[in-house]
Amino acid sequence: MKDKLEIIKRESIKELEGVETLQQLEEIRIKYLGKKGELTQVLRGMGALSAEERPVVGQLANEIRDYINTRIDETAAALKRRDLESRLKKENIDVTMPSKRKEIGKSHPLTKVLEEVTEVFIGMGFSILDGPEIEKTYYNFDALNHSKYHPARDMQDTFYITEDILLRTQTSPMQVRTMEKQKPPIRVLVPGRVYRADEIDATHSPMFHQIEGLVVDKGITMANLKGTLDVFAKKLYGESTKTRFRPHHFPFTEPSAEMDCTCAACKGAGCRVCKYEGWIEILGAGMVHPNVLRNCGVDPDIYSGFAFGMGLDRIVTLKYEIDDLRLLFENDKRFLSQF
Ligand code: PHE
Repeated sequence: MKDKLEIIKRESIKELEGVETLQQLEEIRIKYLGKKGELTQVLRGMGALSAEERPVVGQLANEIRDYINTRIDETAAALKRRDLESRLKKENIDVTMPSKRKEIGKSHPLTKVLEEVTEVFIGMGFSILDGPEIEKTYYNFDALNHSKYHPARDMQDTFYITEDILLRTQTSPMQVRTMEKQKPPIRVLVPGRVYRADEIDATHSPMFHQIEGLVVDKGITMANLKGTLDVFAKKLYGESTKTRFRPHHFPFTEPSAEMDCTCAACKGAGCRVCKYEGWIEILGAGMVHPNVLRNCGVDPDIYSGFAFGMGLDRIVTLKYEIDDLRLLFENDKRFLSQF
């Protein structure tokens, strides 16, 4: 009987070690301590033992029963703890985590106005082109009829990469690239970023945006230039908008002009936006210089054209009465969400 008890002890220890679930644990309890359990059977058979054997075997059987009971309790507690822990891990909720609110973005004001401008010109039969921001000095200056000594070439004004390569200071090099590639009739609009070595302040940025326009065909005159740009101004700022052209100078156009519109904010009466002038300058323009046409392989005796260039950032700040250009480039959502 003592041997039988030793076996029960060894086996129960082994089985208890491998337990994975509370269900298995209950099975072991029934196997040893249940009504028909192995240990219960032994205790029941005690009556057949001699008077000397009985207390010895009885004590051993009790020890084993206590041992198994204790182990079952401990194991049950450990299993419950483990189950709870894994459940807590699975159901872990971080209440500080931000919610997954879907934020729907909006177009940047520069994009919005650019789309308005391109729509107007697409309506007049222009196609939209893109050009390189890293440009050859040839396209940015030489081919555009800038003399070797033109001040815009200065290192203080232009970001050079090498002597021959720079960050374009204007979108006008696309006039040349377009005429090199396409035969007239040409009607293109080229928006893009340009760069100048300016200090950043409320009205200057070393990076800004221009929109270049170019029309080349037979018989193009200053009247076409004025008509086209007047229609554009009316479409952008409203039908009552008036335009005026003031003489100006650009190396690549002759004659050259700057165009003013009546101030959209005060309709020409004078206000803070137009500095009480009633007019606002919005672009530079002119008839494409014969030298530029020649540089691009276009015969100035057959063809003529006009070009214009406007500053997109300025049109945007005027339209929304934004008094600091920097706001357009800081990407502060609180600012941008207003448009
Ligand atoms: N490129 C000129 C500028 O940056 C603008 C312009 C473009 C003028 C086309 C005339 C014709 O100031």
